[in-house]
Order: sequence, then C-alpha cells, then structure tokens
Amino acid sequence: MKEFVQCKAVTFSLQVRDTGEKDPPQQYRAKGGHVMNKMVLYSLLGMFLGITLLSARSRASSAYGEGKNLYLSKCQICHGIKGEGNGPAAFALSPKPQNFTDPAFWQKDVEKKITTTIAKGKGSMPAFQLKPGEIKALIYYMSHTFKPGSSSGT
Ligand code: HEC
Repeated sequence: MKEFVQCKAVTFSLQVRDTGEKDPPQQYRAKGGHVMNKMVLYSLLGMFLGITLLSARSRASSAYGEGKNLYLSKCQICHGIKGEGNGPAAFALSPKPQNFTDPAFWQKDVEKKITTTIAKGKGSMPAFQLKPGEIKALIYYMSHTFKPGSSSGT
C-alpha cells in the first residue's frame, strides 16, 4: 500500500510536470519552429535569388561598367559625359571631338572606326593603348548610352 501510494505520487508528479511544463512550451516550440523554418526558408530563398540576380546582372553589365569607367577616365574630357563632343577640353580643339549622339556616326563600320581611332588617334585625339576587351567594353558602353534610340543602362 505504501509502495502504491508512492507510485501514485510519482505518477502524479510526473503528470503535473508533464501538463505543467510540457504543454505550453510545446505549443511555443511548434510555433517558434514554424516561424524559424519560414525565416530560414525565406532568407535562403532571398540569398539564392540575390546571388542569381547579381550574377546575371553583373554578367550583363560588366562590359557596360568597364566601358563606362574607361570612357569616363579616357574619353569624357573631350567627348563629354553625354557623348555630345563637348567635354571640358573640347573648346580648345579644332576640329571638334566627335559627337557620339549624332546618328550619322553610327554607320555599319562604326566598331571598326572606333577601334582604329582608339589605336591610331585622329587629329588632336591621341592614340590609346587598350586591350581588345577594353575596346569592346568601350564600344558596348558607347552604343548602349550615346547611340540614338539606345536604352541607356544604368
Ligand atoms: C584630347 C581629346 C580627346 C580624347 C581624350 C579622346 N578623343 Fe576621340 N576625338 C577627339 C577629336 C578632336 C576627334 C575628331 C578628330 C578629327 O576629326 O580630326 C575625335 C574623334 C573620335 C572618333 C571619330 C573618329 C572618326 O573617324 O570619325 C572616335 C570614334 C573617337 N574620337 C573615340 C574616342 C574614344 C573611344 C576615346 C577614349 C578612349 C576618345 N575618343 C578620346 C578628341 C579626343
């Protein structure tokens, strides 16, 4: 009988502990776990999306960005930020630097013309020693920024 009572007491205390401690925390845990799972899922998704978008974007715009840097550091002083041939140094030059927003400039042979002009210079324009990839990037930037009707990338 004594043993039975003790046993009951143990069971009772276990039950109390079960209902008293387990139930509410289990609910929280279930909720919390759910929220955590969602958060982890969303952040992973976000990271994945971000990386995918970034790599796609950088692939598309790396030529643009490289070309832009080259243009701003080497050509803009004469040809102007907007390619209109009126950069800060243009006033001193005659004939004037080429206006890249002029539709007449964008003929079929324009890439060859840009490449040759960069390599050899023309009139008061000095020659530039650029790698083929750099010239390509410059042409990409110029044709996506100054060419009439081109959608200027950012
Ligand atoms: C020192 C000023 C100056 C700089 C810097 C300069 N240019 Fe020029 N550019 C000129 C002038 C001046 C002309 C017109 C030359 C002429 O017609 O005699 C010209 C003409 C051109 C032409 C037209 C050539 C043709 O046959 O119609 C292209 C293309 C060109 N530049 C590209 C560039 C590029 C690309 C850069 C940068 C890598 C650059 N220029 C840097 C002054 C400059």
